[in-house]
Parts: sequence; C-alpha cells; structure tokens
Amino acid sequence: MMFARLPRRLPRLPLHSSRPISNTAPKRSDALFIHRDSPHNNPQIAFKFDAENLKRAHEVISHYPPQYKKAAVIPLLDLGQRQNKGWTSISVMNYVAELLEMPPMRVYEVATFYTMFNREPIGTNFVQVCTTTPCMLRGSTDILNATCSHLGGIKPGETTKDGKFTVIEVECQGACSNAPMIAINDDFYEDLTPETTKKILDAFAKGEKPKPGPQSGRQTSENSAGLTSLTSKPYGPGEFCQPEFQ
Ligand code: FES
Repeated sequence: MMFARLPRRLPRLPLHSSRPISNTAPKRSDALFIHRDSPHNNPQIAFKFDAENLKRAHEVISHYPPQYKKAAVIPLLDLGQRQNKGWTSISVMNYVAELLEMPPMRVYEVATFYTMFNREPIGTNFVQVCTTTPCMLRGSTDILNATCSHLGGIKPGETTKDGKFTVIEVECQGACSNAPMIAINDDFYEDLTPETTKKILDAFAKGEKPKPGPQSGRQTSENSAGLTSLTSKPYGPGEFCQPEFQ
C-alpha cells in the first residue's frame, strides 16, 4: 500500500506574536480567593448604599417575590461594587447579605464565583483585554503587550503606580466579530491595532472618554470589505404584486 509522503514540518501559520499557553499569567478574578482581614478590607470598614443606590436597590428587590428577594444578589453586588470604586469588599458583601436577609456565606459564594466582581481595589480605568481564541487569532497578544508596555510595563493583574489603570486578561466578551477588543470600564473598544489601543489609553489617561466601538472606521460589525449582498434598493410593499393587490 502506498502512502502519500507527509512534509517533515508543517508550514508556519502567519500568526501575530504568540506565546506558550503555559505562560498565561494567573488572572486576579479567577484566583482561588481566601479572605484575610487587611487594613483596606475588613468587616469593620463601614459600607452602606448612598440614598440614590438604596432607592435603586429597593427598585431591583421589588421585581422579585418577597420570599425570593435574594435573587437580587448580583445586581446589588454590582451596585455596591460601583459605589465602592470598582471593587467588592467584605463590607459590601456583608451589607448586601444584610439587605437581602441572606447568610453572608451565600453572598461570598456568588461574589467569588463571578469574575465581574473584583475582590481587590482596582485603578480608575479597568482595562480588560480579551485573549480568547478569536481575539488571539486577530492579534490580541500584540494588544495585550502594547497595553502593558504603554502603561509603564505593568503585567496583567497589576495597577499603574498613579492608580489610573488596572489591566487584566479576560475570556470572550462576545464581540468576536470585532476582534481584537478590550473593555475599559463599561465600554468596548474593538477592531484594535496596537496604535489605536495606545491612543485610547492616552485619552483615558487625560481624563477623556474616546468613542467606544470599532476603531477601524467600519459601522458596527458590518463586512469590513464592504457590502456584498442586499446592495440594490429594496422594493416597496406591493411593488411586484398584481395590480389589484397594489
Ligand atoms: S474572543 Fe474576544 S470577544 Fe470573543
């Protein structure tokens, strides 16, 4: 039986910079978390919702039957994190547990399971760089490297000395059609290159907020090569119908 001769080496794919998977930095959010009281994070530090957030919390709670108000734990933790400068301290969790009449352990379980809750203080601008496969194939390693080096050589999981930026790596953010992308605070910046990424970071450093969305000039996630279908004027209702139906 004859076998086709295989090439000795597989051709190298023209990838962007790459790195061994085993070198992926541990992410702060999915580190196994054990709370130890510290000067900045202990139950003696008082936390309460301000008047506006308390009103919002009661509004959220009112969406659930009274016996199931604990279902509001995620939105309330999110409110607490926002009020607490972007991180969820033990006092935030205890306060939410008290408000929802839940055992504090149940709240700790939720806050330590979902990566959206930061368990340590973060910088003013929270930069989340997506490095999952679609973004990686579109150059997210270059974006991560550009971000870290532009912010003074910090590593994922670290905060700049001036407290303006924290960078972490995250899994897919659901914007793969506009890869590579980063999320800064609540906004997505997409179709990035290392240069556009640096410009965005510079704007945030100056206290500005650049326009979110694709940075390539394309509209949302439409084909970057231009329209290839539905290129003619759509016909109006009844246009090709029998005259009696027009
Ligand atoms: S892989 Fe990056 S947004 Fe989906």
